[in-house]
Amino acid sequence: MDKFVINGGKALSGTVHISGAKNAAVAILPAVLLANEPCTIENLPEISDVATLLRAIKQLGAEVRSINKSTVEIDPTPINSFVIDKKMAEGMRASSYFLGALLGRCNRARVAPPGGCDFGVRPIDQHIKGFEALGAKVIIENGMVDARAAALRGCSVYLDVVSVGATINIMLAAVKARGLTVIENAAREPHIVDLANFLNSMGANIMGAGTNVIKIRGVECLHGTTYSIIPDQIEAGTYMVAAAATGGDVLIENVIPKHLESIIAKLVEAGAEITEYDEAVRVKMTGRPKKCNVKTMPHPGFPTDMQPQIATLLAIADGTSIVTEGVWDNRFRYVEQLIGMGAKIQVDGKMAVITGVEKLTPAPVKAVDLRAGAAMIIAGLMAEGITEVENTIYIDRGYENVAEKFQKLGAEIKRVPVLSKEANLKNA
Ligand code: EPZ
Repeated sequence: MDKFVINGGKALSGTVHISGAKNAAVAILPAVLLANEPCTIENLPEISDVATLLRAIKQLGAEVRSINKSTVEIDPTPINSFVIDKKMAEGMRASSYFLGALLGRCNRARVAPPGGCDFGVRPIDQHIKGFEALGAKVIIENGMVDARAAALRGCSVYLDVVSVGATINIMLAAVKARGLTVIENAAREPHIVDLANFLNSMGANIMGAGTNVIKIRGVECLHGTTYSIIPDQIEAGTYMVAAAATGGDVLIENVIPKHLESIIAKLVEAGAEITEYDEAVRVKMTGRPKKCNVKTMPHPGFPTDMQPQIATLLAIADGTSIVTEGVWDNRFRYVEQLIGMGAKIQVDGKMAVITGVEKLTPAPVKAVDLRAGAAMIIAGLMAEGITEVENTIYIDRGYENVAEKFQKLGAEIKRVPVLSKEANLKNA
């Protein structure tokens, strides 16, 4: 395990380049299994979730060839298995996408339940509802989700809750099903649109992605393609908040400004000066952030994956802000870490009341999940003095070269190995 050691209190300045979107990559990589020819995927982020998925795809029997640090060629034709075991599936949510991809490929899938960040219960009942509507039989036994179908046929499915994962999984299972599938109350995130564009580039027939009704007309087969992943909306938002939170002036390049609308609006409300370019945004903050209220919602609302980051900025705002978590049951586990740095936050269920303080004070903190870990780095950059952030393993799941990218913006941050307790004893 490593930790980040940060000597904070300096304004960030300079330019940061945003990588490919994690949540698009982790949907598009399993989707390659649906093709009957090799696919080349470009602009993949160098993060551990991508590495984990590529290992699982290789273990299924596919040929995986690294072209360069952000491009892979995958030939799914030799795949000879439909099983993703616990070892392969653990630690990430996106392993659930193998259910839809393998069902769509060969009418058979046996996948260990997904892992992922701990926000309370993370059910997959809507995924299963979609598979059963397509004609699959799904049972959960011996700790595995087992899905099989004689043949998949188009259907209409209404999602009881707007679910990114269920929308993606049903799309994956439906692209080669016989007939028309309609997903209603579908999620509208940018990565849903990116997956649909990827599948359509392979010959799928998907309409309406990005709206709450997606129509998928099944096709016989999907050919190979070369596809470049969209830039990461949440990575971009994280650096935007870091710039504002440190009173900095940063150009965030390689973004799609349209994907950042809700984040831009909220940062402007908090007093940041934002300039939009075709493929970049500039964030400048002078003076103390202003208080504002935030409610996280499915896209196009303010993203839940930006909730810990914006709450950290508001911890030093001039006044009291209210952050309401509209997607997850329990996404405030990081608050006690911020309180240890002097923040004044009260959590009551899905609401956090943040009374702004002049400044945060440095302290040893832990990343409790991926985006909370990013928020701890922001907090460390805000506080004058040395903050150590443990559990970098969570942060490395979704942020490429995070220390190097912050160093380029003038931050004093370095990754330090943490000896295990046994190793410490041995060295004592
Ligand atoms: C995806 O998770 C993202 N992960 C999450 O990002 C993100 O927080 C979430 O979407 C919401 O945007 C990936 O894309 C890999 P959901 P997912 O299904 O698909 C309930 C990050 O930081 N629900 O949209 O698991 C669920 O409990 C990660 O990158 C059901 O009730 O989220 C939640 O309350 C963290 N039944 C709500 O829907 C289901 O079958 C939204 O969940 C599925 C979901």
